Amino acid sequence: MSLRFLTPQPADPLLAMIAAFAQDPRPHRIDLSVGVYRDEAGRTPVLQAVKEAEQRLVEAQASKSYLGPEGDHAFVEALVPTVFGTAPGVFVEGLQTPGGTGALRVAAELLALGGQGRTVWLGLPTWSNHAPVLRAAGLALRTFPQVDVASQAFDLPATLAALEQARAGDVLVLQACCHNPTGIDPEPHEWRQVAECAARRGLIVLLDMAYQGLGEGLEEDATLLREFVARVPEVLVAYSCNKNFALYRDRVGAFFIASHSATCSTNARSNALALVRAMWSMPPDHGAAVVRTILHDPRLEALWRRELDAMRDRIAAVRGALGTHHAAPALSLGAIAGQKGMFATLPLSAEVITRLRGDHGVYLAPGGRANLAGLPLGAVDRFVAALEDVLACQAA
Ligand code: LMR
Repeated sequence: MSLRFLTPQPADPLLAMIAAFAQDPRPHRIDLSVGVYRDEAGRTPVLQAVKEAEQRLVEAQASKSYLGPEGDHAFVEALVPTVFGTAPGVFVEGLQTPGGTGALRVAAELLALGGQGRTVWLGLPTWSNHAPVLRAAGLALRTFPQVDVASQAFDLPATLAALEQARAGDVLVLQACCHNPTGIDPEPHEWRQVAECAARRGLIVLLDMAYQGLGEGLEEDATLLREFVARVPEVLVAYSCNKNFALYRDRVGAFFIASHSATCSTNARSNALALVRAMWSMPPDHGAAVVRTILHDPRLEALWRRELDAMRDRIAAVRGALGTHHAAPALSLGAIAGQKGMFATLPLSAEVITRLRGDHGVYLAPGGRANLAGLPLGAVDRFVAALEDVLACQAA
């Protein structure tokens, strides 16, 4: 059959920003679109811990022979204490994946096995690639309002109401920390209620954890995940090292099954491996080898933790500067100071977002998401002035 029926597809609206920004000649443009950390000078440096680990790999790596569909098992094992802590009574199995997206795709394919009639519940707004990845595996989605952008609040009643409609065996997708795109994580008493409800309704929970350490700290950012793993018998985790190790293009991730049944975890892993073999066969090695090298060496791990702290501190400083910005009382940026991780979503219309880009060279992601980790402190005033200008134009 001919392929002539295929028609051109639009570029991914978020990733299209990378090219649009690169082609914009204005020297003072500000890129707050794709989720990448930048330092005050606007660079996304390779971490020193990564550089040293790479050096060691160049000198000591003896072979590049195949490792199999599970990838680097020592990398996966080294992540377990950081992600799950001690987790008594929980059986954790995992495998390496190409980034957190690869882990999400494995989770989706696993859920689709024997999952006819299974509904996946996805809170909105969420990362723009969640629905495409889940749908690509043939899963049926239902969405519900999880965060109210206008009031900048987690919507617990809407979340619980959605779960009361779910049936046993359905799937709840949640982000473990640093919510993308809003930075609005539930409070401890809220996620406890969600976890209890998910357990009572017999749901499988899929946790996307892409920003551990960029919110409050490695341990603190794992609290929600550990609460769910303790209460819900079957939790799947899509984990990414792309952001917290700044290894973006090396695509470093892991897929975990955390079950209260050892057999369930083992069987799920063996099915996941079969699925991987039919998708990418085996994951690329380099980034995972770097992370494993860092986590196996106390000095390198301490260096990485300091570098991660520095990234988190800079993001917190940007949040603080925006949240207390006196020049923009009408914008109600105050909530931003208390939110977590790289992102905030500003309640802006599509027209205002387009004007920000056209008139001021300020690039936000579709939906008004601002990657605060890409905003230099020195550009906060300019960013707020641009916001004030486009909102004044809109009001006029
Ligand atoms: C983002 O949300 O900006 C990043 O995770 C990049 C991506 O793949 O969408």
